[in-house]
Amino acid sequence: MAEWLRTPGIFGTHATMGADVSQLMATFFTLLFVVGWIQARQRKANHHHWLMLGGMVAMLAFFTSYYLFRSLGVLAFEGKEGFGGPQSLYDNVFIPLLTLHIVLVVIGLVMAIYMIVLGFRSQAFVDGRRVLKEAVLQTSGRRIAVILGSVTGVVMLLFASRVMTAGFSMGKFSVYLGLIFIIAIVFGIEVAIQRIWPNGARRHRVLGMFTMVIYCVLFVTGTVTYTMLYILYPGKIG
Ligand code: HEM
Repeated sequence: MAEWLRTPGIFGTHATMGADVSQLMATFFTLLFVVGWIQARQRKANHHHWLMLGGMVAMLAFFTSYYLFRSLGVLAFEGKEGFGGPQSLYDNVFIPLLTLHIVLVVIGLVMAIYMIVLGFRSQAFVDGRRVLKEAVLQTSGRRIAVILGSVTGVVMLLFASRVMTAGFSMGKFSVYLGLIFIIAIVFGIEVAIQRIWPNGARRHRVLGMFTMVIYCVLFVTGTVTYTMLYILYPGKIG
């Protein structure tokens, strides 16, 4: 499998099969979410629910397993070795673009999980029809503390099991610590967002729109990165 991902890709560019599969799936999921967005706007709430739920779960499963398998640093590494264009373009365009892309990936992953949970919490059934509940939807500070504490416990357990099988390293420790830190920040932001949009339906619409814009920008930045690396300025790799 690892070997196959390194073979030449299907689009006839300088990309490997791994990069092409990733680009193909990114296109597929972006299109899927745009369709789900249109369904929401047309008030086809049931279709919207199943498409977003299925799409987001499939996307999370695909990209996490894919990147764990391909190992995370590969994009940055390919960037350094594989970019064959001028240094100034690399410093001023490629790296800022790649950084923006990676930051948006993290936000996009968090929003995927957040929106699914919010979708379930803010919906209601009226005459058998799925609708958004026009009501205040707040989580108490106490409940947030319990959830955050439980998530921290699970992450620490995962870390402990990794230490037992593969040994302790400071790098690994900081990754897990960083994960807990990101989760804590997300809950902090959620507390602030609840104050701005206490109405669950309004929150789902506003943050849903925000999530969709993130996914569209993600697709554009990803595609430009692909084009620069594998079509315009291919380097030593591939
Ligand atoms: C996971 C990503 C999701 C995103 C990005 C998203 C986004 C949106 C957006 C932007 C709207 C407002 C459309 C508009 O009126 O302009 C909306 C409406 C809605 N969403 Fe979601 N949504 C997601 C998941 C879900 C899930 C999982 C559920 C159900 C559990 C759900 C249930 C609904 C309902 C019932 C509406 C109201 C549609 C209507 O007005 O009839 N959504 N969503």
